[in-house]
Parts: sequence; structure tokens; C-alpha cells
Amino acid sequence: MGANEETNNAPDRGPSAGPIAKVGVIGAGQMGNGIAHAAALAGFDVALNDLEREKFDEAMEVIGKNLDRQVNSGKITADEKKKALGRISFAETYADFADADLVVEAATEEETIKRKIFVALCPFLKPDAIVASNTSSISITRLAAATDRPERFIGLHFMNPVPVMELVEIIRGIATEDVTFTRAKEFVSKMGKTVAVSEDFPAFMVNRILLPMINEAVYTLYEGVGSVDAIDTAMRLGAHHPMGPLQLADFIGLDTCLSIMQVLYEGLADSKYRPCPLLVKYVEAGWLGRKSNRGFYDYRGETPMPTR
Ligand code: CAA
Repeated sequence: MGANEETNNAPDRGPSAGPIAKVGVIGAGQMGNGIAHAAALAGFDVALNDLEREKFDEAMEVIGKNLDRQVNSGKITADEKKKALGRISFAETYADFADADLVVEAATEEETIKRKIFVALCPFLKPDAIVASNTSSISITRLAAATDRPERFIGLHFMNPVPVMELVEIIRGIATEDVTFTRAKEFVSKMGKTVAVSEDFPAFMVNRILLPMINEAVYTLYEGVGSVDAIDTAMRLGAHHPMGPLQLADFIGLDTCLSIMQVLYEGLADSKYRPCPLLVKYVEAGWLGRKSNRGFYDYRGETPMPTR
């Protein structure tokens, strides 16, 4: 079925069901600020929401620094940076999403939090607005059921760091309409990213493959097969991975890694996905990786030092 045919078969939603122009982003953390950055650079107007204004200001600082990296390496011009920053505004409440064509939720990876957000968000949206979740592992069909628009709900799973990574996984829930899929796909393509379509199974494709590898690296550490440095060196130089698996775990966030492993373990009911007890211990200690300054590496000094 061609794209035009898909659109023609879909219910007529009037002119507002056209291409996406204004995007709302919920959550100004690592993923949210990356999505806002990439969307603004691609020419979309972006309203970025977080609980406090302070979080938005911090995110704008990070976005500014990351845009500078792109200016310095000649990927974008100083003028493009300025224009991108000018396209991002603070959404103090969900009422600021009233004219958004798409709202991407990039809040904490906890189902109850996400469901509460969707319940609070939907009454403020245009009837045709699409709601997307950047969840890295939770069922899109289940999240869609918390909204008033399961047919206009979709999974858009961006990779970290969003401005650099070329892929977005798109996941349809059971009720997602063709027109929603087509509009979301056009949005992703306009951001210059490549789409990989995944069925709605726990952790989708990238994390279904990546996280068990990271979990296995933690077991390798836990069982004393190698040190943090040895394991990461082995995978960087022995498998040409840009980051070692423990370095990558710190980059993703150990709490996120653990919650994805739990979703795999419970969702697929297979013991091969059992989270490593050492990963659990680090999370319980609050050693969550880069964002808390300590994980498999300690980031408090000049250079990251392995913690084991
Ligand atoms: N914004 C803009 N540019 C950035 C950036 C950011 N946040 N982070 C890095 N860059 C740019 C740098 O400026 C640099 O640009 P030039 O080459 O033009 O100079 C380029 O990216 C490379 O960066 P560095 O030289 O600093 O370091 P690097 O070569 O090690 O690359 C990396 C950094 C791109 C992050 C690389 O290490 C990498 O690809 N790591 C693996 C990342 C990965 O696997 N991500 C997926 C995680 S899983 C996920 O996200 C899904 C989930 O749900 C958990």
C-alpha cells in the first residue's frame, strides 16, 4: 500500500492533519533536550515542557553547547544555530501545546508517570494532534490506552545523543492509524533521520539487542572475568564499538538500563534477561552513570576513573 493510498483510506481530518509544523516536547532531560535540538534545527517550532523553568533553562544551555559543537565542526552555520535556538520556547503548562501538531513525551521511563502525563495532556490538544512516546521499552498499545486518541498515538524512539544518532525506531500500537504513521514518518525524515519500523514488543529492536549485551558486560564484571577498563577496551578495540559497553551504560543511565532489562525480563518471561545483581546494586547506590557523576566510572575528577 503506497503512502497516498494510506492517507486516502484514512478518515478525513481536514487541513490540520497535514504536515507537522509545531512540536511539543515533554521532559527537558537528556532525550527531551536532544529531540528539541534536532527538531528546531530541522525547522520545527518547538515548545519544551518540564516541571520547573530551571530545568528548561538548563536544557537550553545544553542545547546551546551542543549546537556550538556542530558549528565548530562546520556541520551548521552560526546563523542556523541562532535560528534553531529562537524556535524553542518554554511550555509552562500543557495549555501551551494547544496549537501543537505533535507532542513527544520524553519523561522518566516509568509507566505510571507516563500514563499520568497523557491523561493530563490530552484535554489541551487539538483533536488531530499526534501524541508520541519516546519510551525505550514500554508497550505503545498499553500507553495509547491511557489517552483519548489511541489511533493518533505512536512510539518514536530516538537514540542518544539525538543530534548525532541517525536512527529513530517507529512503533505502531494496535490502534495507530495509517495517517498517524505517515505523518510521524515524514516528521522523522524531515529531521534527517532514518526510520526503522518495529513491532510493539518489549524494548523494540535496538534495546532488545543492545541491553542484553550491556547486562552481559556487567555480569562479566560481576563474575570477575575482567575489570571495567579491560571489558570496555576489549569491546572498543575487539569489536570496534565506539564506546565500551560499561561506558555506554553510564552514558544511557544505569537506572534506564535496569528498567529496560526489567521490561524484557517480565515482558518476555525468560530468565536470560535477568538483570545482573551488580547493576541493581549500582542503581540502589544512586550511582546512575554520567548524570549522577558516578557509575562504572567516577566522573568527578578530570578524567573518568573506573570504579572497579
Ligand atoms: N550534540 C551534538 N553533537 C555531538 C553530541 C551532542 N550531544 N555528542 C557528540 N557530538 C559530536 C561531536 O561534536 C563530534 O562531532 P565532529 O565529529 O563533527 O567533531 C562527534 O559527535 C563525535 O563526538 P566525539 O568526538 O566527542 O566523541 P566520539 O567520537 O566518541 O563520538 C558518540 C561520540 C557519537 C556519542 C559515540 O561515542 C557513539 O556513537 N557512542 C555510542 C552511542 C550509542 O550507542 N547510542 C545509542 C544508545 S542506546 C539508546 O539511546 C536507546 C535507549 O533507549 C537506551
